[in-house]
Amino acid sequence: MKSESIQAIKGLSGEIELPGDKSISHRYAMLAALAKGTSELRNFAAARDCHSTLGCVKSLGAGVKEEGATVHVSGHGLHGLKSSWRTLDAENSGTTIRLLSGILSGQTFGSKITGDSSLQKRPMKRVITPLREMGAEIRARDENFPPLDIRGGKLHGIEYQMPMASAQVKSAVLLAGLYAEGETSVTEPASTRDHTELALAEFGAGVRKQGRTISVHGLNGDAELRPISTDIPGDLSSAVFFIAAASLLRESNLYIGNVGLNPTRAAILDFFNQMGAAVSVVNLQTKQGELAGDLAVKGAQLKGGVIAGDLVALVIDELPMLAALGPYTEQGIEIRNAAELRVKESDRIAALAENLKRMGAKVEERPDGLRVQGRGGGKLHGAEIDPRGDHRIAMAFAVAGLGASGETRILDADCAAVSYPAFFAELRRLSE
Ligand code: S3P
Repeated sequence: MKSESIQAIKGLSGEIELPGDKSISHRYAMLAALAKGTSELRNFAAARDCHSTLGCVKSLGAGVKEEGATVHVSGHGLHGLKSSWRTLDAENSGTTIRLLSGILSGQTFGSKITGDSSLQKRPMKRVITPLREMGAEIRARDENFPPLDIRGGKLHGIEYQMPMASAQVKSAVLLAGLYAEGETSVTEPASTRDHTELALAEFGAGVRKQGRTISVHGLNGDAELRPISTDIPGDLSSAVFFIAAASLLRESNLYIGNVGLNPTRAAILDFFNQMGAAVSVVNLQTKQGELAGDLAVKGAQLKGGVIAGDLVALVIDELPMLAALGPYTEQGIEIRNAAELRVKESDRIAALAENLKRMGAKVEERPDGLRVQGRGGGKLHGAEIDPRGDHRIAMAFAVAGLGASGETRILDADCAAVSYPAFFAELRRLSE
């Protein structure tokens, strides 16, 4: 396990392009595996998570050919998947296991799917409940945890009121809905990322949105999804670490090309600008229903702020970075209504509180969030950071280390590869 050493610098400058969006790559890979024909997915995510998805769809009989960042996925139609002789391995990826559970529920064969030790601790009841209601038979350890044993069956559409704001749960139900008789609808308590809805439409499924309810029609008869050929925009959630670093360091001048700016993901940019950051968007364009553009970022004085209510779901993956920026802001950062953070790749509230304290920050940990004191709480000093195997914790603290005195050592830094294998190399390049 490799550690990375971070020292203070004055600015982050130059140009960067990010690998393709992780959420979009998962969805395109899965839908391409269900389409009839070959999809060409350019700028496919470098994230290990998305390769877990590719591994699973391959085990289920789809063709997968990788040439650099271009992935060709060949599907044999909606009913063209085959039973995998081995247990499917989602590794660290919640999106892989939850979305695939929806697809596996629609198959006429049984499947077993599991993941690494972190994934085996993450709750699956949230997908098991609606998928059982649709007619699937699912067994799980303690009714909640992987491995999952899924016996697909004849599914019927349901109207599902989702108890938590989760794009993964919404997506699992909608994907199962492709195989269900009649219409399947999901109503979300707060908006979450809508990549599944957009992707379903691009692959030719009938999907409708009315307020917070999204519906999909089961494909019956000979109806099939069509393959696509597309460029995947860069991952905004990876860009956020560079936006944060460039904002916090006074002498920064950074240009980030081709970033996904889907409105259900881009609330983080508004939040940065509300905090006083200097982030501007240029060259907006739409690709396959997904918005993308370039970002220019300069150093700024950050005010800090509160993240609560409906905003939480829209910036859920950005909360580690925002919390770790807290000590560099005037008023600090407060996160409320975010108990979901406790069931991510790690208990992110505990991981943030512990590591921020190691760097000398003043932190109050709460059941559903945390409050991190701003500059008044004192300057951060370098420390040994234990990311608990969580990619976003490792990257957030690498950024925090850029403004701290002395050395910050990120242990087990390789875990960043779960979403962004080149993160530390790119950070070093832009620091020079
Ligand atoms: C994701 C949804 C979110 C997010 C995760 C990716 C997705 O999870 O945290 O990193 O691609 O649908 P939840 O649906 O559990 O909130």
